[in-house]
Amino acid sequence: MSNASLEAVVDPDHVQGWIDAIGSDASAAVPLLQAIQTAYGYLPRKAMNLVVERTRINASQLFGVATFYAQFRLKPVGRHMIKVCHGTACHVQGADRLNTSLRHALGIGDPEQDTATNGSYTVENVACIGCCSLAPVMLIDGQAFPNLKGADAQRHLHKHAREHNEILALQESAE
Ligand code: FES
Repeated sequence: MSNASLEAVVDPDHVQGWIDAIGSDASAAVPLLQAIQTAYGYLPRKAMNLVVERTRINASQLFGVATFYAQFRLKPVGRHMIKVCHGTACHVQGADRLNTSLRHALGIGDPEQDTATNGSYTVENVACIGCCSLAPVMLIDGQAFPNLKGADAQRHLHKHAREHNEILALQESAE
């Protein structure tokens, strides 16, 4: 299923404000993209097109920068971010299993998507987050959950969802 419904509503005046403040030549590409992503959590196509229309940065320059740096996302994000560490230690300890379990709980079946269709959570794979002795590890909104075994990841997700009034796809599998 497409996550098109999760696309942000872009205010052209905001984009113009960033251009006015940051600049409009090629050297402004990275800071402009950072401003857009800070505001929307990713780089909405509409905002990217506005930058191309209103600056001297052409489309290939802007999209080249957006796709070169891992910090930039071209797809919408959920209200909460789950980062599953896929560094070597976590990979060996079953990071793939964690990922599968979380995606199942969130009903994310399309391998091209990483965000639940209700916009609740995004599941992202990340490189080593620096606490390998606690592998496997995931972060939910920046909070680390270490030594995840069995159904631990789903259990933490369900607890987090309850605390934040989020609906998961498979509530019946909670604890
Ligand atoms: S490999 Fe996961 S924390 Fe280092």
